[in-house]
Amino acid sequence: MTAATTVTVRVPAKVNLQLAVGPAREDGYHELVNVFHAVSLYDEVTVRRPDSAARVSGISLSGATGSDVPQDSTNLAARAAELLAHRIGYRGGVDLGDLVDLRIHKAIPVAGGMAGGSADAAAALLACATLWNTGHTVSELAPLAAELGSDVPFALMGHTAVGRSRGEQLTPLTCTVTLHWVFALAHGGLSTAEVYRAYDRIRPQAPEPELSHALTRALEAGDAAAVGQALHNDLQPAALDLRPELARTLQAGADAGALGGIVSGSGPTCAFLARDGEHARELAAELEWSGTCLRTVCAHGPVPGATRTQG
Ligand code: C5P
Repeated sequence: MTAATTVTVRVPAKVNLQLAVGPAREDGYHELVNVFHAVSLYDEVTVRRPDSAARVSGISLSGATGSDVPQDSTNLAARAAELLAHRIGYRGGVDLGDLVDLRIHKAIPVAGGMAGGSADAAAALLACATLWNTGHTVSELAPLAAELGSDVPFALMGHTAVGRSRGEQLTPLTCTVTLHWVFALAHGGLSTAEVYRAYDRIRPQAPEPELSHALTRALEAGDAAAVGQALHNDLQPAALDLRPELARTLQAGADAGALGGIVSGSGPTCAFLARDGEHARELAAELEWSGTCLRTVCAHGPVPGATRTQG
């Protein structure tokens, strides 16, 4: 069998069903109980061995990119490729362009609280491991993923899981129902670090985070209405402090009959839970009509993590 010259990996966005944020630690991170849920909104990362004759640049972007996705070695997917190359002693060259050509097709909102950058990093790890035939399993890639960012290991794993510590120590959770979501996208993004700083200002004495048993019971029972009731995000007041207009988006979703509504992660995307796919489309239409968001996208979860689709 000849080695693949092009590998494509599809990787899902996430929404946090519970994000309980404890006090800031000495290393600046916060102790979390973070219930991740992977949804069917995907970025695609394609890697190729560089063809020096045709090589234009190490990284190219397409899709809903917005303006603030870096196209140099500061891109988290590029850093993932470099980290893996470094660990295996791959001798492609010194520059990213000599290692690999990276193409990212984005559908996950940029800086939207849905871990798009982390997803691309996870996809790049898996794609490069395949391209370079490193023999790493997905679980062997997890420690490298954790070095790249707190949400990257979950993007490899997918489905539904609770992340502890920084969010990178994962335990799978049972979810016996397909949940149907509407995501209300906002103009511009929010910096995760800035939202955590606002959280520290608003809540300087945060208690130790604890997993919501109402949520885990609802997921196990497959009770979407109870999941909707149990959605909770400690970062929501901080995101609303920075972007007060999101309160109108949340209100519009509640008025339209969502089972629950929440700011996704550090925002500014808002996530609304629907009864089923048809209800999701109705909610999406109501939210668009309300004029309180840029646009909406429907998706379902849980779905698997980073998955190879070519090569
Ligand atoms: O781990 P990652 O690089 O994705 O985190 C981005 C930022 O979010 C961190 O620099 C930190 O400010 C904040 N963060 C945090 N506590 C966590 C995870 C992230 O304070 N558990």
